[in-house]
Amino acid sequence: MFPIVKKRQLAENIYLFDVLAKRVAAKCLPGEFVIVKQDKQGERIPLTVCDYDREAGTVTIVIQVIGGSTRLIADDLKEGDEFMDFVGPLGNASDLISEDIEELKKKNILFVAGGLGTAPVYPQVKWLYERGIKADVVQGAKSKDFVILEDELKSVSGNLYVCTDDGSYGFKGLVTDKIKDLVENEGKKYDHCVVIGPMIMMKFVSLLTKELGIPTIASMNTIMVDGTGMCGACRLSVGDEIKFACVDGPEFDAHKINFNEALQRLQIYKTEEGRELLKVIE
Ligand code: FES
Repeated sequence: MFPIVKKRQLAENIYLFDVLAKRVAAKCLPGEFVIVKQDKQGERIPLTVCDYDREAGTVTIVIQVIGGSTRLIADDLKEGDEFMDFVGPLGNASDLISEDIEELKKKNILFVAGGLGTAPVYPQVKWLYERGIKADVVQGAKSKDFVILEDELKSVSGNLYVCTDDGSYGFKGLVTDKIKDLVENEGKKYDHCVVIGPMIMMKFVSLLTKELGIPTIASMNTIMVDGTGMCGACRLSVGDEIKFACVDGPEFDAHKINFNEALQRLQIYKTEEGRELLKVIE
């Protein structure tokens, strides 16, 4: 069993959990994910690692209530309670981890984090910071109340640019507006971009960075369901190849991903999640 040592609400329906999972904490790296299960009846939920403390033996995950299982976890589990399963680390670590640090230091790196995508962006930015590299981060949320992990990101990034759709905090507009502003008006130059967030946001960031000539990596963790390569839910086209996000990714060259196909597939599972949520609420 895996005890919850800390639970914190980050925003409406978004919760952070620090979970005691020593063997996962000893090995996990930014970009990798874990599969959690609340109890015997619980659904297996793949979640990207948000942070880890090797000494304390804890792994941080962030859960957004999007269906029945996540609703139950958010409502039922408190500090001191336990997850029945906490399996990992799974998937592949971020590409940046395997690159030569001295080469990385020569690059201007931009992260784009949308909504819950902030959780998997944070450990990558932190990993770079701990090696003397300060990346810029553009963070998008629909309003001030949905800006999560801002202090954490601020403490490890070069510049943090928060954008809200309604202008209630930071820059008013989409992350793509802010990226354009940085490149075209502020003279920023980026050699590498990592985007993690809602599929539609990743699609438009990818279209923009292609236009701007910035190589871009997107993390496709949002389309994973069982996380084991067996359900087929995370299948996607990358260039002329078929890939599975949970086994081959979750990171891929964003300029080669067929986002329209991935968006269509996502709709199918949204419907399933909706049905499950109704079962719990009714
Ligand atoms: Fe099921 Fe990848 S999440 S095959």
